[in-house]
Amino acid sequence: MAHTSALLSHNTEDILKTLRQQFTLDDKSLFNITATFLREVSDGLANYGHPMAMIPTFVRAVPDGTETGTFLALDLGGTNLRVCEVTLHGDQTFSLRQQKYKVSEALKTGEVTSLFDYLADSVDAFLTESGSPSTAVPPSLSRSTTQAPHSGTFVDDGSDTQVPLALTFSFPVEQTALDSGRLLTWTKGFAAKNAVGKDVVKLLQDAFDRKHIHVKCVALVNDTVGALLSRAYTSGGCILGAIFGTGTNGAYVEDVANITKLGNDPAAAQGGPMIVNTEWGGFNNTRSSLPSTPYDNKLDRESINPRYQAFEKFISGMYLGEIARNVLLSFVDAAPKPLLFGGRATEGLNKQWGLDTAILSEIAEAWEGLGRFAPPAQSNGKADEEERLQRVRGVVVQRLAFASDEVSLADADIVRQVCTLVVDRAARLSACAVAAVLVQTGRAHLSESGQETEGLQDAGKRIGVGVDGSLVEFYPNFQTKLRASLRVLVGAEVESRVDIGMAKDGSGAGAALCALVAQKQNQALQQRGGYEHDPKYAPSKLRTEEGVAYITSMQS
Ligand code: BGC
Repeated sequence: MAHTSALLSHNTEDILKTLRQQFTLDDKSLFNITATFLREVSDGLANYGHPMAMIPTFVRAVPDGTETGTFLALDLGGTNLRVCEVTLHGDQTFSLRQQKYKVSEALKTGEVTSLFDYLADSVDAFLTESGSPSTAVPPSLSRSTTQAPHSGTFVDDGSDTQVPLALTFSFPVEQTALDSGRLLTWTKGFAAKNAVGKDVVKLLQDAFDRKHIHVKCVALVNDTVGALLSRAYTSGGCILGAIFGTGTNGAYVEDVANITKLGNDPAAAQGGPMIVNTEWGGFNNTRSSLPSTPYDNKLDRESINPRYQAFEKFISGMYLGEIARNVLLSFVDAAPKPLLFGGRATEGLNKQWGLDTAILSEIAEAWEGLGRFAPPAQSNGKADEEERLQRVRGVVVQRLAFASDEVSLADADIVRQVCTLVVDRAARLSACAVAAVLVQTGRAHLSESGQETEGLQDAGKRIGVGVDGSLVEFYPNFQTKLRASLRVLVGAEVESRVDIGMAKDGSGAGAALCALVAQKQNQALQQRGGYEHDPKYAPSKLRTEEGVAYITSMQS
C-alpha cells in the first residue's frame, strides 16, 4: 500500500495515478467484499453481539398504500432533529408538516438526559405551535378532534389524552419489541453519556413524563425501516430500505427462519417474514476486506469511534468530505514542492470536518453542468474542459474561502479528480451491500458464480428498493454509479429489475406507518388479551385488521 510519503518523489500526474490505484476497486475486490458481507450477514443473524448487528425489528408487515391516519413522529439521527405530523391519505400519498431543530455538539456529547429533555421540549414546542383546528390537531390541543373511520392516532376517546408518537431513532438499537430497544452504540458523531445499554423509548418517555408533556411513545423505528415502509406505502412494494446520508445502513425483509439467534423467542415460532435492520455501517470493522488507505486510517484514528462503523466511514456523507480533505492536504503539504494551492490551506481546509460532503456534490455539479450550473436551455454544445474547470474553480474559491488568485485551473482539476475518486469508491461499496441483500434474499446470484438467473426468488418480478439520504439525493449520478457496480455483481438481468426509488421523508412516513402497526397490534391485543409475541396473535390474525398488508413477495 502506498503511503502519503510517496508524494515526496512523484510529480502530480504520478501521484494522482497512485491515488487512483488506491481508491479504485476492481471487480474482483467487489466480489470479495460482497462475499465477506454475506458471511457477516449470516454471523449477525446467528449471534447477538456482532458488529453488523442484524437487528430483528419485530415489524412483520409492509404497507400497501391503503393505510390512513395522522401521526406524530420524532426523528433523531440525521443532520437535524425533526418533529413531524404525517397524514397518510390511504391512496399511496401522504402529507407532512415538520419542524427542524438543531442538535448542538454539547447535546450530542453531554449527559443523555439533557439530550432527551431537548427532544421532549422540541415535541412540546411543535405541538404548541401546531396549526389551526382545520389541520389535524392532536387531541391534547383540540379536544373536539374527531376521528375518521379507520384513521390513526391523535385519537381523543375522552379517557386518555396522551398523543401517540413514533420515534425514528437512527442508531444501532437492539429492539426487544415494537416499542422498546436498547442502544448498542452511538454513531455519526453522537456520544451522549450514560445512554449505551439503555432503552431509548424509556429515556424519551421519562423526559415527557418529567416535563408533564402528554405524549406517549408507541413505536421505535430505524430510518432504514422507515424508508422501507414508506417506499412500500407509496409504490406498492419494497424489499430493502437503504440510507446513504450522514450515515449509511439498510433494512430488508428476511425470513424469520433465517434469524436463528431468535432461538425460542415466540417470534421465531410464528415464522413468516420480519424486517431486519442490518446496521451495515458496522460491516468489516476489522477492515480485512475493506480497501483502507492512509487517508481512511487517519480519519478513523481521529474519529470519536475508532475501529467502529468501518463501512460507514467509506461511504457516508459524514465522512467523504473528510477523506477528501485528508487527500487534498497531502497534496498541499507535498515536498519538496507543494502540489496544490501553492502550499496554502484555508481555515476550513485545515480543520477536521472542515470540508463538507455537500461541497463534493457541488464540485460534481459544476463539472457536469448540473443544478445551478446547468447551461441555459438555448445553449447547445458541451462546455469545453476549461469552462468546466472554471466552474469547479469557482466552487473551490467560494466554498473553501480562498482568494480568487490562489486557485489555478490545475488546482481545480486535482480537487475534482480527488473528490470523484472518493465518491466513486463509496458508490461501488454501496453496490456491494445492495447486491448482498439481493443474494441473501434469493433474488440474485453473484454473477461470478456463473449461475445466472437459475432458481431465483420472484424471478422476472420487479424488486423495490427505497433509498434516502443526502448523498443519494444530492450527489449527481450517485445512483447511476451504484447501479453500474450492481450490474457487475448480480448481472444485467437482475439489475434491470431493481427499482431504486427515493423514500423521501421516509423517516416521518415510515414512523407513522410503524405507529399504525403498533396501534393495530395493540387494538388486537386489547380486544383479545394476550402478549405481543404470542403465536395466537400472529400476523395472519392481524391481517383482518384494517390497513396493514402483510409481507408478501413483491408483485410486478
Ligand atoms: C446508524 C444507523 C442508521 C444510519 C443512517 C448509522 O450511523 O447506525 O442506525 O440507520 O446511520 O442514518
